Amino acid sequence: MSRLIIVSNRIPGKSPAAGGLAVALKKTLSTRDGFWFGWSGSFSEKPEKKARFETIDGLRIGQIDLTRADHAAYYAGFSNSILWPAFHLRLDLTDIQSHWYEGYRGVNAQFADALVEEIEPGDIIWVHDYHLIPLATELRRRNIRNRIGFYLHIPFPTPDALNAIPHHEDLLKDLVAYDLVGFQAHRDLVAFNEFIAHEQIVAETGGKPFVVDPGDTVLDVFPIGSDPEAFARLGKSAAAQKMYNRVARGLNGRALVLGVDRLDYSKGLPQRISAYEKLLENNASLRRTVHMIQIAPPSRDTIKEYQVISDELDSAVGRVIGKFSEPDWLPLTYVKRAYGQASLAGLYRLARVGLVTPLRDGMNLVAHEYVGAQDPEDPGVLVLSRFAGAAEIFHDALIINPFDTDETAEAMRQALVMPLEERKQRWRNLMDAAQEHNVDNWAESYLDALAHGHAASSPGDDDTPGTRPHATTHGAAGKPGTPRTSIASRMPFFPWLRSVFS
Ligand code: F6P
Repeated sequence: MSRLIIVSNRIPGKSPAAGGLAVALKKTLSTRDGFWFGWSGSFSEKPEKKARFETIDGLRIGQIDLTRADHAAYYAGFSNSILWPAFHLRLDLTDIQSHWYEGYRGVNAQFADALVEEIEPGDIIWVHDYHLIPLATELRRRNIRNRIGFYLHIPFPTPDALNAIPHHEDLLKDLVAYDLVGFQAHRDLVAFNEFIAHEQIVAETGGKPFVVDPGDTVLDVFPIGSDPEAFARLGKSAAAQKMYNRVARGLNGRALVLGVDRLDYSKGLPQRISAYEKLLENNASLRRTVHMIQIAPPSRDTIKEYQVISDELDSAVGRVIGKFSEPDWLPLTYVKRAYGQASLAGLYRLARVGLVTPLRDGMNLVAHEYVGAQDPEDPGVLVLSRFAGAAEIFHDALIINPFDTDETAEAMRQALVMPLEERKQRWRNLMDAAQEHNVDNWAESYLDALAHGHAASSPGDDDTPGTRPHATTHGAAGKPGTPRTSIASRMPFFPWLRSVFS
């Protein structure tokens, strides 16, 4: 089996942690030869060009330091003040300072310089997320001919949002320098196709289109998952039980409504608190019978917009506490700090309602983990935003529009009064979906497609609507000489676009 090189901005085992990504990929890498490469988490005014290696948690990790200035331009600047808000359709929150682009490309070039020294023929390179879109271009410039794949963990933007990003033409060319580009949801592939369609219309109406030639690049959907069985075990572990008991004592029989999110404006937290406020306002009988816990560890707090959302949330929480609290009952607890996975699993298991209501999100692994941690005999109900990638697979959640706080409040009410039998049935279906889309199937199907140059499944490849076959069901895929599928053959919604690429 070829060696696997995983590349991401953050690396596992360093603080702050690489989050869901680390959990997802640690297992994959632990079963193969290879290493994980990324930023060390440290600054240096004269970073070594060459990667230094260490073993963390049994994984071989290569890392480089960055200068503070480069990191600021690449991470807080171009990645998180331009790409992140634009990809999440928050153009109002972008801070467009074009000079950050130089730092962004510069860090990608530094990653490439360090990596070329380590890459061997036959290695498969898997690059993760929006921080590293130009990496394949940089590696190709350094004569790396290995197969290189990219996976986008956040949503792909609409044409207008993409057009608002400085140098977006370069970024699109960078994407098609990869052999495989993976998205979280069909929505994202549709958005990519829509950009191409939009440029076609520009051409037809006499404008100057931007033509991106995908060549042999395959673009496809690979929804990421978690390890639901592991989460189920974790939910019953001693550490989880400890948290469960501690919080259950405080609840004293009240139903727990739970949200767990990084403190980010894409997560819809003020809207969620407003919806909870409406729940209490419209259903006086529910007051004193429920308690909401919102866990939201701060992140990216050097960026102004993150300070603004933090203040906004503080004020929304204060408003609801002031409005409904009684001397012996608080409607809401807001915890601004991170917890370990076991503690979270205990909380998920205790929660009658799991709130995953982002305004826009790649997948949202909290949804998967909440499902995994439930007690099959007394499961909670998932209230899920239609704008999370998870909504494409979790059809038995209560699906809401997070901008509509009345609808979200009503879904919370329904979840709180839902009969046990319905909760069990819905949870069984959610757990089946979480198991089908688990992290192992995700990684296996992506790596199989990357190694052999084929698309994953098309809607309709499988008899079962809404499911996709795993890598092993691709039949001829992987046989030497199998023709590679280009984007043109993955355009179920824009078949006429095939002509553009043919
Ligand atoms: O959701 C995208 C993502 O990059 C995840 O991969 C990661 O866990 C999360 O955002 C955290 O972001 P940051 O690395 O900026 O703290």
